[in-house]
Amino acid sequence: MVAETIDGKAFAARLRERVGEAAARFEEKAGRKAGLAVVLVGEDPASQVYVRSKGKATLAASMNSFEHRLEADTSQDDLLALVERLNADDAVDGILVQLPLPAHIDAQAVIAAIDPDKDVDGFHVTNAGRLAVGQAGFVPCTPMGCMMLLTDRLGDLSGLDAVVIGRSNIVGKPMAQLLLDANATVTIAHSRTRDLAAVVRRADIVVAAVGRAEMVKAEWLKPGATVIDVGINRLPPADGEEKGRLVGDVDYGPASQVASAITPVPGGVGPMTIAVLLRNTLVAAHRNAG
Ligand code: GUN
Repeated sequence: MVAETIDGKAFAARLRERVGEAAARFEEKAGRKAGLAVVLVGEDPASQVYVRSKGKATLAASMNSFEHRLEADTSQDDLLALVERLNADDAVDGILVQLPLPAHIDAQAVIAAIDPDKDVDGFHVTNAGRLAVGQAGFVPCTPMGCMMLLTDRLGDLSGLDAVVIGRSNIVGKPMAQLLLDANATVTIAHSRTRDLAAVVRRADIVVAAVGRAEMVKAEWLKPGATVIDVGINRLPPADGEEKGRLVGDVDYGPASQVASAITPVPGGVGPMTIAVLLRNTLVAAHRNAG
C-alpha cells in the first residue's frame, strides 16, 4: 500500500481564503477590521519566522495585525502591562504571546493574564476547562487543525481507535479531548508508556506530537492507519548540506508504505496552525462585536 499524502498546505490555503472572505464581510458589517495582536519577546530565530508569517497571513486575510516586539530582557511586569493594554483595546480581538518566553518570565502567569475571550491560542485555563467540559471556547490551533484534516479524510471518527503520542498542554492533551468529543477511543502515550509499538499498532488514527525526529516506525503502524505528524525536527546536516533536513516525528518514507494516509513534513500540519489562528481571531471578532 502506498499512502495518500494529506495535503495540509492546500487545505490551509483554502481555509485562509474562506476566513479572508468572511473577514471582509465582518469589516463591512462592523465598520472595522478584525485584529490580531502578536507579542514576541526576544530574538529566537524560529519564533521570528513564525511571527513574521502570522503577520503576513493576518494581513492577507483582511485583518489588522498588531506586532509587539520586545527586548529579551523585558520584565514580566512590563509584559503583563502590555497584555492588560491589549485586553482593553477594542481594536484587538485576539492576543497571541509567542512561546517560548525567556526563562525569567513565567509563561503561565502571562497566559493567565490574557482575557480568555481574546485567547485565540486557547492556552488559558478557562479555555482548557471549556474544552474539557464541552463549552464553547477557543481550542488550540494545532490540534484543531489536525482534527480538520482527520475529519476531512475519514468523516465520522466514532469508534475508531486513536493514539496520541505526547501529552503537552498545547497539542497532546487538547488533541485527545477533541478525538474523544468525536467519539474515538483515545489512548495518550508518552515517554513512560510501556511498549509504545504495541499501543500504536492498535490505532486506526496516530497523532505524533513528541518532538523526536522519525521516532515512530513503519513497523509499529497498523496497515491502513491514518497518520498525523505534528513534529517538526531538523536533522543534523548530511555531507554537502548546509542545513539538515526538516523531518517529522514519523519515519515518513517507510511509514507511507504502511499507512493509508499521512501528513508530510513540511506541508502537513504546520500550515494548518496559522489558518486556524485566523479563524479563531475572526470568531473572537464576531463575539467582541456582538
Ligand atoms: N510557539 C510555537 N507554537 C506556538 C503557538 O501555536 N502559539 C504560541 N503562542 N506560541 C507558539
